[in-house]
Amino acid sequence: MKIYLATGNRHKLDELAPMFPGHQIVLPADEGIPFAFEENGTTYFENCFGKARTLFDAVRAPVLADDSGLSVFCLGGAPGIYSARYGKEDGCQTSGDQIDRLLKAMERENDRRAAFVCCLTMIFSPYRFVTVQETAEGVIGRTKSGSGGFGYDPVFYPTGSSRSFAGLSPAEKAAVSHRGKAAAALRRLLSGML
Ligand code: IMP
Repeated sequence: MKIYLATGNRHKLDELAPMFPGHQIVLPADEGIPFAFEENGTTYFENCFGKARTLFDAVRAPVLADDSGLSVFCLGGAPGIYSARYGKEDGCQTSGDQIDRLLKAMERENDRRAAFVCCLTMIFSPYRFVTVQETAEGVIGRTKSGSGGFGYDPVFYPTGSSRSFAGLSPAEKAAVSHRGKAAAALRRLLSGML
């Protein structure tokens, strides 16, 4: 099945495409379809559903949306749903800048617990949709390590691992990540629906 992915973030496509074997996941931009959504929700689910619905209304074909982020315990869950925008008002331009800002904010913290969250929504037709949300628990390290992945991966160490998400292979990350777990849950639902 051809599924439009409601994002402009190629890293999400790179991670999600192998998680749905037998389906063709495409970015709207790659077919010249404009897609923009202002994230004005207060939860991952609201933003995820909003993205999916906006793209569905444009393509009238199956769509998948991913809303995700990093919630840090000692920061009261920040940056959370604002992970993509974190620090932009203070001049952070790259994910490296955002990580530096996060490390600075946690400089004096010994409680380094954090969780990545991923909400996935798939809309098939105007009145048929499914949503799942999953987490990956871990800790924020004190320095960056690893060269894979994207975003906050270089400082996130999944529970029990000496390597950060950025130090894992794509398959290793997928086996334990918030996105990998959410995709597995969605696959189970799809197998009974399609
Ligand atoms: P969204 O586009 O609002 O869903 O923003 C997601 C943001 O959360 C990304 O831009 C990253 O900053 C962060 N994020 C989500 N998933 C991951 C991941 O797997 N690794 C690292 N950062 C992630």
